[in-house]
Amino acid sequence: MKKNNHLHRLGLGAFVLLGWLALAVGLPVQAEAAALQNADCIKCHEAQPREIAEKGRAHKTAIGCMDCHVGHPPAVTDIIPACSMCHAGTPHFELPNCSQCHTNAHTPLDLRLAGDLVNECLTCHMPIGQQLAAYPSAHKDVACNFCHADTHGYIPDCMQCHRPHFAQQTNADCASCHGAHKPLNVVYDDKLADVHCAACHNVAKDELLANPSKHQGLACVACHQEKHKMVPLCADCHGAPHAPGIHARFPDCGSCHNTAHDLVY
Ligand code: HEC
Ligand code: HEC
Ligand code: HEC
Ligand code: HEC
Ligand code: HEC
Ligand code: HEC
Ligand code: HEC
Ligand code: HEC
Ligand code: HEC
Ligand code: HEC
Ligand code: HEC
Ligand code: HEC
Repeated sequence: MKKNNHLHRLGLGAFVLLGWLALAVGLPVQAEAAALQNADCIKCHEAQPREIAEKGRAHKTAIGCMDCHVGHPPAVTDIIPACSMCHAGTPHFELPNCSQCHTNAHTPLDLRLAGDLVNECLTCHMPIGQQLAAYPSAHKDVACNFCHADTHGYIPDCMQCHRPHFAQQTNADCASCHGAHKPLNVVYDDKLADVHCAACHNVAKDELLANPSKHQGLACVACHQEKHKMVPLCADCHGAPHAPGIHARFPDCGSCHNTAHDLVY
């Protein structure tokens, strides 16, 4: 915050004002009341002190009326402060029109988040923009507030816009494979239940269930690890179990064992 040099420089303007105020509110002009106080404002202005009292936040606790309004008409006419008087030095404070979102300086966190907002949000959430750019998807083509709506901090459910892959899947499940800002980069951990894969790969699931081999006891993600479409090699787990001559002659395990889901042995 920049220090306001004008804070205690009321001078002649205040003196003239005070005489004018005294007339206006019928107070006696007293020499010791040489400067207007924050507490005086409420005598004539009802709305702003109330707004500040209720929702002034840091504009109530960290500063007073007169830090922003330096002087008073008629002596001083231009007493509406620019936000940049105190807020400067970050990308957010370079935005062109503060009042587009901060609609009232007396209630600074009453926000109106309208229109298509992306770069405005990125003045504080740069990593999200980097993520959307690094993992291109249709989510990059919509504005931040298309999903996050008009309340800052609102988090939507995926299922507000999408259907699950099967009826029992919940919103919390989506995050075990998809990130909101990189939805096509499907990654998961080693605890994911088969049912989430089987929603799209019922043939694989059915084959494993029908095959009495020890592969049946393995989760899909025990073999297909971490990232969608990862396909393991038999040798990743089994090495070269037979005599070298056999592997040299039949390099493809499947020529004797068929597939991992439908083992012949
Ligand atoms: C005696 C009554 C009175 C008191 C006390 C008073 N004001 Fe005012 N204020 C007025 C009037 C009347 C106007 C309208 C003046 C005009 O438009 O020329 C006004 C206008 C304003 C404006 C609008 C200026 C503009 O350019 O639109 C601001 C801001 C303001 N006052 C702030 C304050 C603050 C801050 C205090 C306390 C430090 C205060 N006033 C104390 C009567 C008062
Ligand atoms: C953070 C700075 C800030 C503080 C603190 C502040 N104001 Fe203001 N005030 C503004 C700004 C900016 C405007 C212009 C609002 C607008 O453009 O709609 C304004 C406008 C006003 C107006 C004119 C309203 C109008 O509709 O024209 C009055 C009166 C006023 N303030 C009084 C006060 C009083 C009284 C206090 C203390 C209780 C106060 N302000 C505290 C920044 C401030
Ligand atoms: C006279 C100095 C001053 C002016 C002018 C001023 N502010 Fe502030 N504002 C502060 C201070 C001090 C704080 C608290 C510390 C900080 O966040 O920098 C603050 C905090 C805020 C906050 C956070 C509130 C909270 O409690 O978390 C917002 C939002 C804000 N200001 C917006 C604005 C906007 C928009 C304007 C212009 C309409 C403005 N300010 C004008 C001094 C000012
Ligand atoms: C597109 C909407 C938008 C615009 C335009 C905007 N802000 Fe903000 N501002 C926000 C949001 C959202 C927050 C976060 C509020 C929260 O933390 O609850 C915020 C927070 C703040 C804060 C408190 C947090 C901090 O970083 O100190 C200040 C101060 C602030 N804005 C000042 C300004 C100023 C000054 C301008 C104009 C240069 C401005 N804002 C323009 C949306 C906006
Ligand atoms: C002035 C800085 C600022 C601006 C501008 C801003 N935010 Fe934030 N945002 C924050 C801060 C600070 C938090 C709280 C800390 C955190 O959780 O990261 C937050 C939190 C959030 C959260 C909730 C995080 C959670 O885990 O609950 C979402 C969602 C969000 N912001 C979205 C947005 C969107 C969308 C925009 C643009 C309309 C925006 N923000 C603009 C500073 C800002
Ligand atoms: C298609 C909808 C959608 C879009 C577009 C979107 N988000 Fe999100 N965002 C979400 C969902 C859902 C979550 C919560 C789940 C998650 O984090 O994976 C979230 C979480 C967040 C969070 C809190 C968690 C975190 O990762 O820090 C922030 C902050 C956030 N979004 C900001 C933004 C910003 C800024 C933009 C625009 C650049 C944006 N979002 C675009 C849906 C979206
Ligand atoms: C506010 C609506 C909204 C929310 C919330 C939302 N999406 Fe989307 N999503 C869309 C739109 C719009 C598209 C592009 C059109 C389509 O495919 O339906 C899309 C596309 C997708 C795509 C395909 C991307 C592509 O490029 O083909 C995936 C995957 C996706 N969303 C997953 C999610 C997940 C997971 C969540 C929760 C973390 C989520 N979405 C939250 C609106 C949303
Ligand atoms: C097992 C991991 C997994 C879970 C859990 C999951 N998805 Fe998906 N999702 C995928 C895969 C894989 C794709 C296909 C990606 C491709 O086509 O390459 C996909 C595609 C999508 C698409 C793009 C359109 C489509 O249907 O192909 C959307 C939208 C989507 N998921 C939403 C969701 C939602 C909403 C949830 C939670 C209810 C969810 N997903 C849970 C793995 C998952
Ligand atoms: C939303 C549907 C969906 C979900 C959920 C899903 N997949 Fe897929 N999967 C696909 C699609 C579509 C393909 C591409 C099929 C093609 O290319 O013929 C695919 C392909 C694959 C492939 C083949 C890759 C290749 O190179 O041939 C493997 C392995 C795979 N998925 C494993 C899984 C596993 C394991 C899960 C659970 C963690 C899962 N899938 C969840 C839709 C899904
Ligand atoms: C023992 C390890 C193993 C397990 C368990 C396993 N897979 Fe596979 N999967 C493989 C291997 C290896 C391949 C490559 C083809 C082959 O050689 O059998 C494959 C191929 C695939 C393919 C692409 C070819 C095809 O058959 O469609 C999909 C999709 C797939 N697996 C999905 C799944 C799903 C879903 C599960 C759980 C229900 C699963 N896998 C369980 C090892 C496994
Ligand atoms: C992620 C590790 C993994 C991968 C990849 C894998 N397997 Fe296995 N396989 C196992 C485990 C674990 C067993 C059970 C071993 C035990 O209990 O002794 C097994 C057992 C077997 C058996 C014995 C079956 C039984 O019921 O006794 C055969 C044959 C076999 N695997 C062949 C293959 C072939 C061929 C492939 C490739 C198509 C393959 N495996 C891929 C882990 C894997
Ligand atoms: C020429 C046919 C053939 C090829 C090629 C082949 N196997 Fe086998 N494999 C067998 C036969 C027959 C058995 C059962 C008899 C045995 O234990 O030697 C077997 C057994 C196994 C077993 C179970 C061993 C145990 O101790 O339970 C595993 C695991 C296995 N093979 C993995 C592989 C892998 C991995 C490959 C490819 C690198 C492969 N096999 C290639 C014929 C083959």
